[in-house]
Amino acid sequence: MTGVDVVVRVRAAHARDEAGLASLDAASWTAESGFPSVMERASGFFTEDSPPEAHLVAEIDGRLVGYIRVKPATRLPENAHVFGVFGLAVAPGGRRQGVATALLGAAEEHARARGGSKLSLRVLSTNTGAQRLYEGLGYEREGVLRGEFIINGRSVDDVLMAKRLAP
Ligand SMILES: CC(C)(COP(=O)(O)OP(=O)(O)OC[C@H]1O[C@@H](n2cnc3c(N)ncnc32)[C@H](O)[C@@H]1OP(=O)(O)O)[C@@H](O)C(=O)NCCC(=O)NCCS
Repeated sequence: MTGVDVVVRVRAAHARDEAGLASLDAASWTAESGFPSVMERASGFFTEDSPPEAHLVAEIDGRLVGYIRVKPATRLPENAHVFGVFGLAVAPGGRRQGVATALLGAAEEHARARGGSKLSLRVLSTNTGAQRLYEGLGYEREGVLRGEFIINGRSVDDVLMAKRLAP
């Protein structure tokens, strides 16, 4: 909960959230935060690799306002202690009310409950707002893939960030 009146509820996603999540996704990303090629793709929200179980959603007053996609970073047993955030978005009208903070907190709990001790993510160098969010929550920069993407003719780095999860 943040602010005076805003209560953010985070819950597991259900298959029936698909349409709401697809429209939230379509409204949320820009060329600074995501990939234009992905935004143009009109496909379902859930996939075989990212089913409802890999998502937590946030609601304010019963309205879907955000989601986080969290799952094991890879399938390797040697890497089983690492979970990854593979998507995080908050509807433009729901921002700066602590929704992403609540989703990340819930994702950390989700990972910890499944044996995770590290949560990692990638963020575009152009996405300074998200980097500020992650830094404020204790995520550290672990590396930078220089010039990893060219987005609208501009060279963009991929910034690797992670947080150690307390047991
Ligand atoms: C980035 C994003 C998820 C943040 O969601 P949010 O619910 O607004 O974040 P919060 O309210 O929890 O923010 C907590 C703090 O993070 C920082 N922060 C968040 N967004 C910020 C922004 N755009 N600029 C600067 N700081 C920001 C602030 O310190 C903020 O605290 P404050 O509002 O008291 O100043 C949201 O802007 C979004 O969906 N963007 C498009 C998709 C995206 O970039 N996803 C992340 C991809 S890696």
